[in-house]
Amino acid sequence: MTRLDKITAKQLNISRTQAKAMIKNGEVCVNGAVIKSVDFKCSDDDKISAGGKEIERRDFVYIMMNKPKGVISASEGKGDKTVIDLLPDEMKRKGLFPAGRLDKDTTGFVLITDDGAFAHDILSPSHHIDKTYTAKLDTPFDDDVINDFKSGMTLGGEKLLEAEITPLNNECTIAEVVLRQGLYHQVKRMFKKHGITVVELKRTKMGNLPLDKTLKSGESRYIDENELKSIVAK
Ligand code: URA
Repeated sequence: MTRLDKITAKQLNISRTQAKAMIKNGEVCVNGAVIKSVDFKCSDDDKISAGGKEIERRDFVYIMMNKPKGVISASEGKGDKTVIDLLPDEMKRKGLFPAGRLDKDTTGFVLITDDGAFAHDILSPSHHIDKTYTAKLDTPFDDDVINDFKSGMTLGGEKLLEAEITPLNNECTIAEVVLRQGLYHQVKRMFKKHGITVVELKRTKMGNLPLDKTLKSGESRYIDENELKSIVAK
């Protein structure tokens, strides 16, 4: 059993005093009933809501965001808007950070979590989680590019892991690229080596989990247990 004020404070990322005030004001419900006692204790199965929205009770949360352009993949922006700023209030809680980075002008799948061990696992180069991108290019790519991607190109003196590249249109100006690494500006630099500029880049998949097509730009939703497994499944 855990105190209601403790759960409310943790999950809403507010102080215990603020949580107690919300409870006393009748803003917090347990299993649909308003609870005004700050000493109230909840079991793990109790459904808690605050301000009419259900509070997520998992120890760790995993969130899929469809990142828009102009937003940085960091917890603190120093003037720039971050993916954490974009989360709706009911999803915000202490310790959330993006697991891996997309460039400011890259859109698509960003995974946000407060589970440091999981993030470490999926970002670790030894795990080689596939990351799939759609890249729009200013120039068509040819067999030379395909072979260089597939054989593991050398970039800035570093031999890269094999990458997949598939044309998504007849003109070969839109490519699906699958990487097993996450080097700085990697997709853009791989094309640049061949004189091709990436004009738009979107991450569409992490591991086997595709970006939810119903998420509009800037929207987020929780990732469930099965989906989480499909990120790391080979
Ligand atoms: N590769 C890039 O060049 N940019 C990204 O944001 C992700 C992969």
